[in-house]
Amino acid sequence: FNVPKAVNEPVKAYAPGSVERERVLAAYKEMWNTQIDVPLYIGAEEIRTGNTRTMSAPHDHQHIVGTYHLAEKKHIDQAIATALEARKKWAAMSWENRAAIFLKAAELIAGPYRAKINAATMIAQSKTIHQAEIDASCELIDFLRFNVEYMAQIYKEQPQSDSSTWNRVEHRPLEGFVYAITPFNFTAIAANLPASAAMMGNVVVWKPSDSQIFSAKVIIDIFKEAGVPDGVINVVYGDPIMITETVLASPDFAGVHFTGSTHVFKDIWAKIGANIHSYKTYPRIVGETGGKDFIIAHPSANVKQVVTGITRGAFEFQGQKCSAASRVYIPQSLWPAVKNQLEIDVNSMKMGSPEDMSNFITAVIHEGSFDKLASYIDQAKKDADAEIILGGNYDKSKGYFIEPTVIVTTNPKYTTMETELFGPVVTIYVYEDAKWSETLELVDATSEYALTGAVFSQCRYAVEEAVIALQNAAGNFYINDKPTGAVVGNQPFGGARASGTNDKAGSMLNLLRWVSPRTIKETF
Ligand code: ALA
Repeated sequence: FNVPKAVNEPVKAYAPGSVERERVLAAYKEMWNTQIDVPLYIGAEEIRTGNTRTMSAPHDHQHIVGTYHLAEKKHIDQAIATALEARKKWAAMSWENRAAIFLKAAELIAGPYRAKINAATMIAQSKTIHQAEIDASCELIDFLRFNVEYMAQIYKEQPQSDSSTWNRVEHRPLEGFVYAITPFNFTAIAANLPASAAMMGNVVVWKPSDSQIFSAKVIIDIFKEAGVPDGVINVVYGDPIMITETVLASPDFAGVHFTGSTHVFKDIWAKIGANIHSYKTYPRIVGETGGKDFIIAHPSANVKQVVTGITRGAFEFQGQKCSAASRVYIPQSLWPAVKNQLEIDVNSMKMGSPEDMSNFITAVIHEGSFDKLASYIDQAKKDADAEIILGGNYDKSKGYFIEPTVIVTTNPKYTTMETELFGPVVTIYVYEDAKWSETLELVDATSEYALTGAVFSQCRYAVEEAVIALQNAAGNFYINDKPTGAVVGNQPFGGARASGTNDKAGSMLNLLRWVSPRTIKETF
């Protein structure tokens, strides 16, 4: 049971003139100028259906970076049958061999493919190099390394026995196949959802987001090179409703590993419920969905810390994180200083394309997202109970650019205090200092979500009060830090209420969802 000790992959700086910067820029240029054609991956086959869609760069939407092929129902059936065939050998393979494959994948990303996977993430998901490095390289490597360590602990843990009985538990894979549905906003999450289930001996049908297929291709190529056998992870794209209905109609459907929107997850849950009599086993349902993540500052808070928490929490990654800070509660006494510092910090953020590495923020993912964000900004410009104090401009002529935008509202239940926007827009409500305790209640009661949140305070009594009052309001709770940036192996990540099943990505708890243990008692 000795596996290599998992260590977090250090984040590279990409300083001007550094080798790593030159390397990633070269990879970016090469991928930008090469049209890629992404097939379906079903077993050993790469299937080109001829029914294609184009992929473009969100920061330059006229620039086509490639195409991908859409599956028909027969391909989904084929992916399921192929996965089940591959299961015969994969489920029986020793866990050490499965672990070795994914450790090898981690090393391929850390070394030879780092520039490529970062460049792919910069191009088609419009991330800055720093965002891509944290996501597509470090977080993904960490998921693979730490999950192998958790996996070894799972297999090692055994019940007690005595001289006349020997008790043991086999952590078998689920009986059937797992369906992974993954989002655009993190290459690491997209890779981890199929990989974590596969690591535990399961076979997978993986449907990446249409906006992440460009980097999904890099991932599947790496997994194959690392030794993931054909048929263990099958990749399909196309009409999401057709794909999901076909998958969920299979009697061998054994679980879904999902990250995406709350309403899609609830629909899947309802469909699983409707099909429940047809399954061989109760399917595992693991999902991470939305957030409306808060920051609350106490009057004792350090202003600079609070403002850094807001700007980094709300605007890094273009605010396209389920964990992004999007509703903020500031006491009246701190507001003038917070506002002043916010103006300085937000006005110094540069926005533009990822290939200019001095940019802090780039484009949002697609036109649908841009239009939605623009409509909320326009509404805030009209509403009497809202005021845009910073940003508020947007432009989609070349790319889908939305300025980092700060709305201040006098209404704690204002739409943008309650609705997840998934973009660089944050709303602030200024409360009376004397109403600290009532404001904690307000924070708890305002949102249906419970993913992340942060309290800023130099007063320990206030911290304690917030920890208790907000105990169900966030699955990841931060004290004097931004509510984003959970690191695998350090802060297991996930939330409850409408935010998901809280099975903590990158944890033993998550991996345990992908096994069906058998207890064996032997008597002598
Ligand atoms: N795990 C990511 C974060 O914590 C989404 O920000």
